[in-house]
Amino acid sequence: MTLRIPLAAPDITQAEIDAVTAVLRTPCLSLGPELEAFEKALAEYHSVEYAVAVSSGTAGLHLALLVLGIGEGDEIILPSFAFVAVANAVLQVRATPVFAEIDPVTLNLDPASVERAVTPRTRAILVVHTFGVPAEMDALQAIARRRGLAILEDACEATGARFGDSAGGRRVGNFGDLAVLGFYPNKQLTTGEGGAVLCREPAHAKRLRSLRNQGRSCDAGEPAQLAEGGRPLPGWLDHEEPGYNYRLSEMACALGRVQLSRLGQMLALRQAAAKRYNELLSEIPDLERPALELPRRIISWFVYAVRLPRDVDRKGVQSLLAREGIDTGRYFPPIHLQPAWRAHSSASTSLPLTEAIARRMLALPFFNRITASQQQEVAEAMGEAIRSQR
Ligand SMILES: Cc1ncc(COP(=O)(O)O)c(C=O)c1O
Repeated sequence: MTLRIPLAAPDITQAEIDAVTAVLRTPCLSLGPELEAFEKALAEYHSVEYAVAVSSGTAGLHLALLVLGIGEGDEIILPSFAFVAVANAVLQVRATPVFAEIDPVTLNLDPASVERAVTPRTRAILVVHTFGVPAEMDALQAIARRRGLAILEDACEATGARFGDSAGGRRVGNFGDLAVLGFYPNKQLTTGEGGAVLCREPAHAKRLRSLRNQGRSCDAGEPAQLAEGGRPLPGWLDHEEPGYNYRLSEMACALGRVQLSRLGQMLALRQAAAKRYNELLSEIPDLERPALELPRRIISWFVYAVRLPRDVDRKGVQSLLAREGIDTGRYFPPIHLQPAWRAHSSASTSLPLTEAIARRMLALPFFNRITASQQQEVAEAMGEAIRSQR
């Protein structure tokens, strides 16, 4: 059931509707000019050579792990305070997730904990830029270099965030050997469902394009001609290796292209909304609000999540807010505590900080067009709900 003030909402304007409608007036609904244009725009935006659009962030993680050659017997270090897709993708390639602790401020991988988790079987660090806050890339890259590990960036929650000293640093997605973006409707940029893998190596891009398209040997642009001529193309029925259908439709790419052109404006709206929440919630005792600014980082606001006072029952707060028509989210229950993971050997790990933080987290309604009066209403309801729980 959708509540009156939802947790997230996509920001779709007439420009997006026009772009998608224009595609629907053509015979080319997959693997055509919109895919090419969207991929080019994504690569340029992130200052990388290649972007390969795929059907979801999870599909992107799966392909990125395959392209890095990760498989059975390999260990991947990643946070447990994350969306479950990151660990699922590691299992999908039969590798072993090794969960590390997070930094209490950025909520991202703690480099010291990562260092401790490295074993002779470790192959990669899966760095998630949680909630749009860039991870400590310098320290993580130094560990990867020293220990001979790959870095796979998961920037699904962080499109547009930046890290580094000079001139605002570099966009996340530009640091790893490969990086993954996600475009689910709650994200800063949406294609409905969708994602992309960013890379620099031509061989990586070629393999990603082949794997997303059933392991075909032909290139992404070619099948557009199929729709026109109706003839199978040379290569269309040749498969170099077993692959997947992880293609992203032309409608989705058209939507994404327009969203990307508006991203700067959309991120500014989100930042303003975060600032307003921080002011409105400042009077609630013991409620910890997210930092609006962090050294060496430009945040791309994905969710607005607070830490409830330690003595407050989160479930109680959530149901009181829901009664007022206000949606909230438990972002994120640690992966190693999920029922699906309890029996898995990776779950027998001690992550006291992750568990203590996750217990208190609560995401509030947060989207580009949230109004000041909606935020005021949420803040007042929060104040009352917390008071009533103490
Ligand atoms: C950090 C992270 N990685 C991966 C994913 C998976 O993306 P998708 O839902 O597009 O498969 C998500 C979320 O939606 C995410 O937040």
